[in-house]
Order: sequence, then structure tokens, then C-alpha cells
Amino acid sequence: MVAEEYKKLLDEEKSNVRNDIHSFHRYFGKFIPAIPAFAIKTFTNEGDTILDTFCGSGTSLVEAKFNNRNAIGFDVNPLAIMASRVKTTPIDTEVLEKTFKRLLEDIESDGDDDYEDPYCVNIDHWFRPEVKKDLLRIRKHILLIDDQTIRDFYLMVFSAFMRNVSNCDPRHVFPGYSKRLRALDAEGKRQIHVMSSYNNAVKKRIKQIGTIPNNSSTITLYNQSSKVLPKEIGDISLVVINPPYISSIRYLETMKIEMGWLGLINSQKDYIDLDKTLIGTERYYKKDLEQIECSVKIPELQEQISNLKRTNPKMAKVVAEYFNDIQIDFSNYVKVLKSGGHVVIKISDSKVRTEQIPTHEYFIKILEQQGLKFICKFKDDFDPNSRSLLTARNSYSGIMTFDWILIFEKP
Ligand SMILES: C[S@@+](CC[C@H](N)C(=O)[O-])C[C@H]1O[C@@H](n2cnc3c(N)ncnc32)[C@H](O)[C@@H]1O
Repeated sequence: MVAEEYKKLLDEEKSNVRNDIHSFHRYFGKFIPAIPAFAIKTFTNEGDTILDTFCGSGTSLVEAKFNNRNAIGFDVNPLAIMASRVKTTPIDTEVLEKTFKRLLEDIESDGDDDYEDPYCVNIDHWFRPEVKKDLLRIRKHILLIDDQTIRDFYLMVFSAFMRNVSNCDPRHVFPGYSKRLRALDAEGKRQIHVMSSYNNAVKKRIKQIGTIPNNSSTITLYNQSSKVLPKEIGDISLVVINPPYISSIRYLETMKIEMGWLGLINSQKDYIDLDKTLIGTERYYKKDLEQIECSVKIPELQEQISNLKRTNPKMAKVVAEYFNDIQIDFSNYVKVLKSGGHVVIKISDSKVRTEQIPTHEYFIKILEQQGLKFICKFKDDFDPNSRSLLTARNSYSGIMTFDWILIFEKP
């Protein structure tokens, strides 16, 4: 098949109605679900196993579950793994409804208001005092739920809804108390009803959980870097990934408040340590810049890194390490991919200061060097309504209006 035919299949997939569970929790840089759905339906059969080494909020894993494929997901971000798990685990909705009734009773009858704040820098800037109090009460009672699967469901809903009752403008990708919200607050025009908002959020998501099929497909998640794959992984029919872009989106910053409330980060050190593990991180210090080496054997890339070394050593380091890490991730999954298996990648090129980095072309070269056959590539235009995709890039990365879809096969 040629590129146009694959693009047509993807476009057809885009016109299918999507399951609402994809909207369970916001996550920046999400796949549009049609991409993994197209890859899964085109390149695998029921019972096959797919791998997403940057699974984020689990879009590809949800599509695998709904299409009765097994899936394995990796992500260093614990919030991503929790969201992925909740969105792919069927739970009896009657049990959820009963637990919710009890949870509400416990919250309402709790007269105590001596709670400890979570880790959240400037918490009183982000939440009104009465909102914070309600959130603390809700969180306390969720944490008392014994069953981990049910507790995680409620924690994820809590995380998903809290921004709606905060001072963060929902129109912004990064948390910000905007002029617009301040003006509304000054005029007393923004009513916040925490309990009714939480109630609606839970009810909507119980319905979503009710749609998860109780089939034989297994979803296995690893909260760890994709740079080391555990030995038990093998026999993969499809790798479908949307790797981080070079210096594009500060993933963690977009979710720092939620991660603090969930206890997934408990200090600025936790936050920085996690940020350093992200592929594409910019957390390099002066001493790190003494050694800038990229082991990827692509002369054009080496030349671009040399150019950056002269003008901006930090960004030279960022680009060099990005490709070093990507090369390791790619070599890992190539090893566990079956012969005849496919790789589908969504990626966008990046502008790093003076350098226009053709990331997608370098990906093709890296995978060809590792023995994969490049089948084709085509452009996929961004949804013009997606604010997060268009704004969540560093100013110097430039605004991209399309992604590349790359397709490979293992001989
Ligand atoms: C573009 S997002 C993927 C979004 C995902 N496709 C979705 O639909 O939600 C890239 C993801 O890569 C993860 N990531 C970054 N470095 C990683 C690493 N070394 N190992 C595993 N995951 C990593 C980030 O945490 C982020 O969730």
C-alpha cells in the first residue's frame, strides 16, 4: 500500500464515532484516538499485542482494549500510568455507584477540618479557601477507600475535575489565573460549587467506565522509562507511539497541581527529578554541558548539533540527548517486534533556535539503521480546534500545523 491509501484509511477512521472515555482526563500532547485505532485495525488481529513506549494518558491502550488487542504501555509519569490504568480497567458500575453514595455521606458528615495541605506551590493562589477545604475533605475520604482499583478511579476523577473549581483558566494549557477570570471574580460572576461539580464529574465517568469491554485483552503498564524494557516483553505485532517533541511541551508543568494533590509528587525535588527523566528534558546545568555527544550516526544531525554548540550549548545538549534517548528506545522495541510487525509513529519536526530539525527524517534513518523497512510517510494536519496542540510549544519551537505519520515494517 502507498502513503495515500494509508492516509485514506486514517481519514476514514477519523470519521468514526469515538468512545467518550478518551475524555476522562486531560493530558497534553494526546494522540487523536483515530491514529492508534487506524494502526491497530490495519496492522494487527484480535489477540495480538501492541506496545506504546510513551503511552501518556493511554489513548492507544484504550483503543487496544476496545478492539480486543493486548497492550503494553510505558511512561515515566505516574499520573499518565494511573490515567491509563483507570481508562482500561472495567469496574462494575453498580459497585461504583454504591461506593459513591457512601463516599458522599462520609464527606458530608465529616465535621473535622484539620487537614494537611498537599504539595502545591501557592495553593491559596490556585484555590479559594472554601474550595480548598472541600477538596481536602473529598481527598481525605477517597484515600480511605480500601479497594485500590476503586480508589484510583475516584482519585482520577478528583484529578480530572479539580481544575474546573480552581483559579486556573480552563482556556490555558499551563496553569494560569488569567485576567479574564480575575475580572469575572472581581464582579462576583464566577460561582464555584465544588460538591455539585464533583458529583457531575463522577457520574459522567461512571458511565464511561461502564463502556469498557470485559474481554480477554490484557493491558500491562510500566511506570518506568522506555530506555530499559523488562525481559518478559516480546512478540509485539505493532509499536504505535507519539514520542515527546524536542523542547516542545513542558508536560509536567501542565499537571503539576494535580500531581501534588494526588501525592504523586511531594516536593520541588520530586518534580525536578521526574522532569529530568523525560526524553527531551531541558534540565541541564553548566557542568552537563562539558560533554555534548550524540551517538546517532547521521552526519546532518551531527552538523546541526555542532552549529548549536557554537550558538547555544544548552540546546545542543538537549538535542544530542534527545536523539541518544530516542535511539535507545527505538532499538529496544525493534528487538521485541515480531518479524512482519509494524511501527507507526506520529512526530512533528522542531525548530530549535536557529536550527530547523527534521526530526521525522532522522527517525526514519535511525530505524533503517536498526534494520526496519521504511514503508511510507504522510502528513496529518492538526485539528484547528485543538488549542493545546497549537499553543503548548515553547515560543522558540515554532508553531507546527501538521504531524508526520511514519510507517515501518520489520522484515
Ligand atoms: C506526546 S506524549 C504521549 C501522549 C499519549 N500518546 C497520549 O495519547 O496521551 C509523550 C509521553 O512520553 C512520556 N515520556 C517522556 N520521556 C519518557 C521516557 N524516558 N520513558 C517513557 N515515557 C516517557 C511523557 O511522560 C509523555 O507522557
